[in-house]
Amino acid sequence: MLDKIKNIKNQMEAFPIRDIESLEQFRIAYLGSKNIIKPLFKEMKQVPAEERKAFGQRINELKQRATALYEAKRATIHQAKSKDQAQSIDLSAPGYPHRIGSRHPIRIVMEKLVRIFEHIGFVVAEEREIEDDWHNFTAMHTPDDHPARDMQDTFYLQDAKDMLLRTHTSSVQSRVMETQKPPIRIIAPGRVYRNETISARSHCQFHQIEGLYIDKNVSFADMKQTLFYYARAMYGADVKLRLRPSYFPFTEPSAELDVYWGLESEDDYRITKGTGWLEVLGCGMVDPQVLTNCGIDPEIYSGFAFGMGIERQAMLQYKINDIRMFFENDVRFLQQFAAE
Ligand code: PHE
Repeated sequence: MLDKIKNIKNQMEAFPIRDIESLEQFRIAYLGSKNIIKPLFKEMKQVPAEERKAFGQRINELKQRATALYEAKRATIHQAKSKDQAQSIDLSAPGYPHRIGSRHPIRIVMEKLVRIFEHIGFVVAEEREIEDDWHNFTAMHTPDDHPARDMQDTFYLQDAKDMLLRTHTSSVQSRVMETQKPPIRIIAPGRVYRNETISARSHCQFHQIEGLYIDKNVSFADMKQTLFYYARAMYGADVKLRLRPSYFPFTEPSAELDVYWGLESEDDYRITKGTGWLEVLGCGMVDPQVLTNCGIDPEIYSGFAFGMGIERQAMLQYKINDIRMFFENDVRFLQQFAAE
């Protein structure tokens, strides 16, 4: 019995405690619920009665020693650990640089366009993307059976009658004309939706900027000059332009503005479909019927309007050849605009 106690003691003293794991092994072996000291108390019964007390004391001492050893080692190991941690913090190391976020390329081009027009007195107007039929179509002189509705594949809301996702920012025109008195000079940037097949060249959502100017004696010449100013600011002072007659239900006469892009590379051929000209916007004199629909007297006032897509201009500026990139939120794409 005595030998047994001695053996356990020797083993215990020699137990290599170096880290948290070996400390735990020690605890399980000598202090845990199935520790090897416990059975000694049972074996004590076999010891002659007169020696029993002395044995009991030895076993108790053994137990106490185990506890003391454990506490001592635990203290030093934990101390070492926190010292380690303290040392691994280098207070003189330079901090991690803050990652600066980036603006979306559509936003960058949109803001550039807004600034161009703000310069000559246009004020930003923003409106809802979920629109009613009246403001998107009917007030804009596009009644139910108007063939022009086929030009714009519309997403209608399933449960709400006559509600739709606006197909163009021209809906802002009717909203503004209804609530403001001329002179009106607004620029309306925003997102629009059309039910189109998604491909590298078209998407079911995109962005437009709408312009509207209404006052007394506003003429087609005013519109031409305004668009000329815009094109020079956007495409350079020596930009070449042409106005092509066109059709929109809400303008009369209507035109499309083309910017000369050139035909130097194969890309130029592809982008301009071999013509060298780039179609950038639709425009025209506001149809008198639209003014009437929105409560403005066409005998007193006249005006012009224009609407342009933003994606195309952003694709040209940044040489992006797939419109889907704008909507995928791939950070590898977005981070390239951090400097802008
Ligand atoms: N709303 C037209 C479109 O989406 C563009 C436009 C706006 C044309 C204003 C004329 C006047 O294509």
